Amino acid sequence: MPKDTLTITDNRTGKTYEVPVSEGTIRATDLRQIRTGDDDFGLLTYDPGFMNTSSCRSAITYIDGDKGILRYRGYPVDQLAENATYLEVAYLLMNGELPTQSELAEFTHDITHHTFVHENVRTFIDGFRYDAHPMGMLVATVGALSTFYPEAKHVMDREIRRAQMTRLIAKMPTIAAWSYRHSMGMPFVYPSNELSYTENFLYMMKRIAEPKFEIHPEVVRALDVLFILHADHEQNCSTSVMRGIGSSRADPYVAVAGAAAALYGPLHGGANEAVLRMLREIGSVNNVPAFIKEVKGGVGGRLMGFGHRVYKNYDPRARVIKRLADQVFDLVGRKSPLLGVALELERIALSDDYFVSRKLYPNVDFYSGLIYEALQIPVDMFPVLFAIPRTSGWLAQYEEMLLDKEQKIARPRQIFTGYDERKFVPMGERKPSRLPEATKSSPRETD
Ligand code: CMC
Repeated sequence: MPKDTLTITDNRTGKTYEVPVSEGTIRATDLRQIRTGDDDFGLLTYDPGFMNTSSCRSAITYIDGDKGILRYRGYPVDQLAENATYLEVAYLLMNGELPTQSELAEFTHDITHHTFVHENVRTFIDGFRYDAHPMGMLVATVGALSTFYPEAKHVMDREIRRAQMTRLIAKMPTIAAWSYRHSMGMPFVYPSNELSYTENFLYMMKRIAEPKFEIHPEVVRALDVLFILHADHEQNCSTSVMRGIGSSRADPYVAVAGAAAALYGPLHGGANEAVLRMLREIGSVNNVPAFIKEVKGGVGGRLMGFGHRVYKNYDPRARVIKRLADQVFDLVGRKSPLLGVALELERIALSDDYFVSRKLYPNVDFYSGLIYEALQIPVDMFPVLFAIPRTSGWLAQYEEMLLDKEQKIARPRQIFTGYDERKFVPMGERKPSRLPEATKSSPRETD
């Protein structure tokens, strides 16, 4: 008779244990009972990079990496990209259901009426160096919002928490656009309540002195679709940081700042920027074979925009983005000269045994940068364009974590590999330290 349990025999002691299996998972704390003696703490698991550990139960986003499936609250991401707006998707992520017409109208009204930031935020952004990276400015400024809304620390009060969630989604585009304007030495443009969420962001970023600022609705729609595709991605690096910070009951502003900092890295949301820099460095289709050879030989770095911890099949977001790229190129009337390089990289990588055997496929970042480039958005802004829509996903995950009775402050264990107790050495008896040799960087994290 099959049972939903796992029987473990500890060959160190000969003892046998039976632990429950639920949803294909065992509880790590059930292993604690496996001990060799009274002074043994109990069996731990070792899982650097969380390769095989569920840190939470979540009902928000579902991914099947082998089949290339991504769903928000049950809806396939390509259907949402086809039929919904980003604000509908943000509502869905945070509330569990798609909004009705009146719910969406109310949500849109609330977001639209919180897009302004305190004037001191303007002077705060003004204080950055002229060449500051906009992502660094975004991280710092969103964290600084915590000081403007001290009530935000009451994270268990639903009304207060929801007010900050609205503010965060509303103010991210303003801060993002102003970070860009600062880096360009251009005056800040205040939000316009007449515009949609995405159009308002483009307006604040791009308006110069036109009497009436106009942007093609299909350009706005393309960016909105990109926002939908980036809105959530379950327990990736930045979301885990968001939950980790939130688990100490820190307010959502500092938690989003931390999550955005995690997103900034080139192995995560910074990959879109890295892809474009890589394509520019390769420069022409003729140089692709030599570049691929270097990557395979381990001397040319990684093929940025390829590979994923979870997807071992085509990233479903990349599929939508590739189609979108063609539409945007038609719309703006020019193809990026780097598109040819990207297509050739993809063609070779998808037929080369090195990439095929490791199941390395293009991910969301491979083509998104080419679209941003076609929209004349500078490379530095690419990770910022990831952070704006991911805010709704982070907040949905943050709230789910706070309301989950099983969650506790995030506090992993370690395997201690340092010295055992030793006697303090007085200054005169100390020998010069032998610092560990610099190691070659080895990327090991992912979304
Ligand atoms: N180019 C060349 N080789 C690669 C690549 C790549 N992009 N990605 C993985 N590999 C190799 C890696 O060297 C290793 O080979 P071996 O088994 O011989 O040592 C094998 O594939 C497995 O790699 P891993 O580092 O153990 O895999 P991971 O799951 O820890 O890392 C990843 C996933 C996304 C960090 C990695 O694929 C990568 O660095 N990709 C490039 C950066 C990138 O595009 N990041 C964006 C991720 S999706 C956007 C987001 O949502 O954040």
